[in-house]
Amino acid sequence: SLSNNLHSITPIIRKKLMGYVGFANLPNQVHRKSVRKGFQFTVMVVGESGLGKSTLVNTLFNTTLYPPKEPPAPNDERPQTVAIQSISADIEENGVRLRLTVVDTPGFGDFVNNDDSWKPITENIEARFDSYLEQENRVNRQKVVDNRVHACLYFIQPTGHALKPLDIEFMRRLHTKVNLIPVIAKADTLTDDEVAEFKARILADIAYHNIQIFQAPTYENEDEETITETEEIASKIPFAVVGSDQVVVLPNGRHVRGRSYPWGVIEVDNEEHCDFVKLRQMLVRTYMEELREYTNDVLYENWRTEKLLSMGVAQDSSVFKEINPALRMQEERVLHEAKLAKMEAEMKMVFQQKVQEKESKLKQSEEELYARHREMKESLEKQRLDLEEKKRKIENGRPLTPEKGTQQKTRKGFLRP
Ligand code: GTP
Repeated sequence: SLSNNLHSITPIIRKKLMGYVGFANLPNQVHRKSVRKGFQFTVMVVGESGLGKSTLVNTLFNTTLYPPKEPPAPNDERPQTVAIQSISADIEENGVRLRLTVVDTPGFGDFVNNDDSWKPITENIEARFDSYLEQENRVNRQKVVDNRVHACLYFIQPTGHALKPLDIEFMRRLHTKVNLIPVIAKADTLTDDEVAEFKARILADIAYHNIQIFQAPTYENEDEETITETEEIASKIPFAVVGSDQVVVLPNGRHVRGRSYPWGVIEVDNEEHCDFVKLRQMLVRTYMEELREYTNDVLYENWRTEKLLSMGVAQDSSVFKEINPALRMQEERVLHEAKLAKMEAEMKMVFQQKVQEKESKLKQSEEELYARHREMKESLEKQRLDLEEKKRKIENGRPLTPEKGTQQKTRKGFLRP
């Protein structure tokens, strides 16, 4: 379950401590903090039209996360996704909150000219980096919402041949910005042998074109079980998946999610039929934290540095910076200055905020003082007027008429001495 995995996904926990150091409670602290804050995890699905992206999203999370596309299509045909859509769900397991977002992108490949079809997708990924950067630069960083894409499932058509030029183009555009996880779509249309061959071809193509796909990290002192799990997952990449939101009844009465054929049923959740279970395990159970970490520490950091550089140093300098130490130093200086400027701006804002708070407090107490002063003055003035009135009446020799509430006393005092 999710919370059990929290223990296993933090590298610290896996290492054995040599005696008491005092931070034995650290895993619990990390755990507590994550539990309180909850997780944000975003998966994007990318691939040609009609490869079953939306179906797999539904299958993956087995919730109503992805409502059936409107209008309900006849004969199980889903209408096409035409715009980038993102759908979130809050999932809670054993007190651990997870906000899961799936970004579904429109399928491409339908046009004669598919040249720029990757553009809206990379723009979407970068806009999410932008929004994160903007939040980081705020003074108040309490509520940073992490909408960055942590994993991108890239759907490959089950042709059984090799990657298409369009796939290669797409992956090359994406691999520096997201954790790419290639999947073979609709694997039920290939035989086991075909799947095995196709996987080998895809991996060879990926290597040949220097495309970075997500690699399961390995740690020192790993226990046997974790090593096996890592190897098992790695051996399945690219995952051959089958998606279905239909429940099929098997001859033995068991209800399974799957696709029914005249020759039998392909079960989604059966590891002998496809790699769906391994894919889900990788995303949600084993590597969620690693995917988030790599997104933050490497992909986002690279993008941020590049962005800062493009703002500070002329872009074409990158060609020379390797051989020109002066340019390199200048670049470092720009980065450093940007950092200083950011710190200074933050300090200024904090200072201003403090000054404002103090000022408004002073103003308030000043007003309070005035108000009290005015009240006292008024009440004194009233007393003075009362006394004058009494004095005038006594001087006129008229007997005093008792006031209502004080009648008794007055009688005693004046009328019956
Ligand atoms: P776009 O919206 O055009 O991007 O399509 P999509 O990739 O979201 O595909 P969608 O999920 O709409 O599925 C397209 C068709 O493929 C539907 O008729 C699904 O029933 C079918 N389909 C989905 N997954 C599988 C699968 O694993 N195997 C088989 N054989 N068919 C599938």
